[in-house]
Amino acid sequence: MTRTPNTLRFTFWDKFRLMADLQADALGLMERWARDNGDFFLIKVDESDQYLTSHPEAMHEIFVKQAAHMIKDEDYTDERKGLARFLGSGLLTSNGDFWKRQRKLVAPALHTKQIANYAQTMVEYTETMLSTWRDDMVLNMNLAMNDLTMRIVGKTLFNITLEGDLRSIGQAMEVIQVRSSGNSLDFLPNWVPTPNELRSRKAQRHLDQFVYGLINERRKTRDDRGDLLSMILFAEDEHGKHMTDLQARDEILTLFAAGHETTANTMNWTWMLLAQHPEVAAKLHAELDQVLGGRAPTLDDLKQLPYTEMVIKESLRLYPPAWSVGRATTQDTVIMGYDIPKGSKLGVFIYRAHRHPDFWEQPDRFMPERFAPENEGKIVKHAYAPFGNGPRICIGNSFAMMETQLLLATIAQHYEPRLLPNWRLTIESRVTMYPKGGLPMRLVKRHPQPQPTPMLTV
Ligand code: HEM
Repeated sequence: MTRTPNTLRFTFWDKFRLMADLQADALGLMERWARDNGDFFLIKVDESDQYLTSHPEAMHEIFVKQAAHMIKDEDYTDERKGLARFLGSGLLTSNGDFWKRQRKLVAPALHTKQIANYAQTMVEYTETMLSTWRDDMVLNMNLAMNDLTMRIVGKTLFNITLEGDLRSIGQAMEVIQVRSSGNSLDFLPNWVPTPNELRSRKAQRHLDQFVYGLINERRKTRDDRGDLLSMILFAEDEHGKHMTDLQARDEILTLFAAGHETTANTMNWTWMLLAQHPEVAAKLHAELDQVLGGRAPTLDDLKQLPYTEMVIKESLRLYPPAWSVGRATTQDTVIMGYDIPKGSKLGVFIYRAHRHPDFWEQPDRFMPERFAPENEGKIVKHAYAPFGNGPRICIGNSFAMMETQLLLATIAQHYEPRLLPNWRLTIESRVTMYPKGGLPMRLVKRHPQPQPTPMLTV
């Protein structure tokens, strides 16, 4: 016997108020719905069906077991209003055979073996940033982390040094994220020149100019530097054809967008959590001082820094940057006993799953020890998915884990960022989630204590 999900109904006229509520606080609203309606429920808006789940079993069905019957959510890939309007048919927004081919092409550049070569750049760029930091300085950590991670993606994947254009590209990317998030209030068609729409067009022009500039330069010199940009531009498919400039643009912009803001967010949430939990910060510092004693970390050091990794994993649990992801079904299916008709939308509410009281002890507490090797086995299967899962799992997963650990180890040795006394967190939930209005922090200089090398006993 199939089950009937709890159903929230909204009429055509409710739709406008709903959009305003989502615009104001999508995450808060969805959390309230989930608390009241359970781990699998249906939202009926007008005639469209959207299921929302935060149950590990359903997550596994959607991401892994039934992945073949799922495509990326149609709203998301809708070229008129979704992220695809700006990112076209890049990896994040494409489907079917086209997606498969692109994924195969991009994967080697983000494979564990290849990313080992990026570690040094990640640390060097971080040290350059640190050379501009001073004790007692107040800065917007949000911007600092965004600039740093964008520089790193630019250098490691595309071999470019971003300087003057950095801020304007970052701002343009934020404009397109706000405009294309499913909860944008702007429900008018794109041809209506609202201020929002005009800002989005300007942002898109700016990003196009930047990306086509990269493409043209590399095509002109025909310089195959073995980086991802060359792979994208010079790879041939089975018919000996290259990617068109438009396809290359979509892929490059997608990797820039997906590859910098998520890791910057992870760093921001981690700084906030460490500032709120001095006992965790003290443990982290002890590990860093013990293993590194003030020197820059290398990739090999990461094995000796388990607590650093645990801090990042726990931060990704409490504040998963990709807090909710969507799919649409391509055939009738059954998930957890619920009948799901073809063409339904499915939302996986990762944020809620990560804090679900049935699956986590003291779910709202920041406790990196959950991810200690002896405890990881106790984590409920499939309840933790900051990078998604299955065939569409984040392709930059290993890159991001390595980058965030290296950045944390490099920076936390020398500075302890503190929150300003009057700062209060409001979460902005768009395609990703981040602190609304930025994250102003005061830097407090640390002096890592080099630890004596343990005596070797024979
Ligand atoms: C902490 C940082 C990151 C987080 C939390 C994150 C999260 C995610 C999630 C949840 C997905 C799956 C979306 C879905 O199932 O619909 C995803 C996909 C993706 N991510 Fe990441 N990501 C991060 C870093 C990166 C980096 C560094 C890159 C590139 C260098 C990247 C590139 C992508 C791409 C291209 C996809 C689409 C993959 C596909 O559909 O085949 N991400 N990411």
